[in-house]
Amino acid sequence: MTEITIRVNGRERRIAVEAQATLVEVLRRDLNLTGPRESCGQGVCGACTVLLNGRPVSSCLTLAVLSDGADIVTIEGLAPEGELHPVQRAFVEESAAQCGFCTPGMILAAVSLLEDNPNPDETEIREYMSGNLCRCGSYPRVTRAIQSAAARMRVERP
Ligand code: FES
Ligand code: FES
Repeated sequence: MTEITIRVNGRERRIAVEAQATLVEVLRRDLNLTGPRESCGQGVCGACTVLLNGRPVSSCLTLAVLSDGADIVTIEGLAPEGELHPVQRAFVEESAAQCGFCTPGMILAAVSLLEDNPNPDETEIREYMSGNLCRCGSYPRVTRAIQSAAARMRVERP
């Protein structure tokens, strides 16, 4: 076991992890953060997406020991005071989730997209979000939700 210190959703956590443990395993099993989902386990579906030092990563492919010292945001950390992030609000308003399995990863990827590009067009959204798969086929609504969140954020967070 190796001790690591990570900052998760603004809170410093010191935990002992096995050398082979992935970040998604540690988040779900040890920290009880079940927002990141594990599905393919191969970096293909995006269900396990978290923000690591501000960038979206597949936490199923990230060894926990290599996250030592990192700042991590999961979906649970996007609304710390209970006020939804504009992207979360837009997903609700546009009904951009059906079963919701892909939604935490989708939202975190979208947050990162809008930080990089506050006014993405449809092609840019589809391209950026191509690593996040949705079995329910919510893609048109997800795209609309991201466009709506972008418009709102340009006003609320210029
Ligand atoms: S579970 Fe990590 S990308 Fe699919
Ligand atoms: S809403 Fe069901 S997998 Fe995306």
